[in-house]
Amino acid sequence: MSIKAVLGCLYGDEGKAKIVDVLASDVDVVIRFQGGSNAGHTILYDDNKFVFHLIPSGIFHEKQVCILASGVVIDPFQLDVEMKALQEQSITFNGRFFIDERVSLVLPIHKVLDEKNEGLSKDKMIGTTRRGIGPAYADSVSRIAVKIYDLHSKDILRNKIEYISHFHGFDISKNDLGILVDDLADFGNRMKWSFVNLPYKIDEYIKKNKKILFEGAQGSLLDVYFGTYPYVTSSHTIAGGIASSVGFSPKKIDEVIGVYKSYFTRVGEGPFPTELFDEIGSKIQLQGNEFGSTTGRPRRCGWFDAVSARYSTMINGIDVAALTLLDVLSGIDIIKICISYTDENKNILEHFPADSSMLNYIKPNFIELPGWKEDIANRKSFDDLPENAKLYVKKIEELLMIPIKIISVGPKRDQTIFI
Ligand code: IMP
Repeated sequence: MSIKAVLGCLYGDEGKAKIVDVLASDVDVVIRFQGGSNAGHTILYDDNKFVFHLIPSGIFHEKQVCILASGVVIDPFQLDVEMKALQEQSITFNGRFFIDERVSLVLPIHKVLDEKNEGLSKDKMIGTTRRGIGPAYADSVSRIAVKIYDLHSKDILRNKIEYISHFHGFDISKNDLGILVDDLADFGNRMKWSFVNLPYKIDEYIKKNKKILFEGAQGSLLDVYFGTYPYVTSSHTIAGGIASSVGFSPKKIDEVIGVYKSYFTRVGEGPFPTELFDEIGSKIQLQGNEFGSTTGRPRRCGWFDAVSARYSTMINGIDVAALTLLDVLSGIDIIKICISYTDENKNILEHFPADSSMLNYIKPNFIELPGWKEDIANRKSFDDLPENAKLYVKKIEELLMIPIKIISVGPKRDQTIFI
């Protein structure tokens, strides 16, 4: 199979970057299709930890091409910082990094708006990463965004930025406008070599039979339509989003790989039925180093919720699963999995509700499985795992009704079990 997608199926932070990094050795092109610098990708490369936000996770493989598609929103100044950090590690970009000319830009005003919107009312707070993502996507659908293809003209930049500022009720001083226009034009000049008309480039790759991997950011439960609205990000994180965000036929994707963490985490506000508020939650948070890689915020931790995970499997048409961070559960005596919810009228629910506020009023129903004590970080095969760890994996497989083909037991590439 030559065209695959790797998607986070929960609330983001499932460990997708490592899975993409591992699978990228066997592909030619990695394409990030949505999100912006709200994402935090953590990769261990030569035993050094790298956290980056925009650049696709395939960048550490010398020969692979990495692309940012039209559905991504780019903060040019963030991209500069990331590229510089990677170039310092001798990672090269020329000829292997491309950006669709249609990409919308995240401007400084979008960060101001993100901050302002979050401050308006405590009960309407989303807990965004404050990277300007929501306002940038909003301007994109309002048809006023600055696009990559605008960067060649200072006049166009000036007019658009002035318009956007007025649209949002801001005045931008002549001086600030001049500086921003100069900086953006400079970015455009320096990066011109990377700008492409992506649908044609992808068509070329397909005709040459290249292997393509689509990389998702965030997770399906944060999708702007199908996640826990309004506590979602502002893009289409699900498999269906690939086609519309990239300019590519959905018929051509051969395999969709879903990434599921072995327990649940959520950062920011929003419902979380299986959230743990006890010492087990703290233990998972500590063992899993569950602190946001973009904002540093502690991630909320909880048991695996098979109702939400199954919903995700369904809406994405997941073919195979990767189960990550299984090593984090070592040392927990009893591990729980939520298999259904009970609502206020004592009805048993097996469907993820459309109105996610209902999740605040349901009670999760759990099954309990025996845990394992052994450190599994160096186990190399499924058979090597403790019996109870195998039982846990098999139970999740049964509940999701898809095969688990990859298990991650640590952050390094070689801490990956293929089944
Ligand atoms: P935004 O994407 O910054 O607008 O934030 C919207 C919601 O999505 C907030 O709850 C964020 O914490 C969450 N979010 C955004 N990006 C990520 C991510 O990469 N991982 C986990 N949560 C995220």
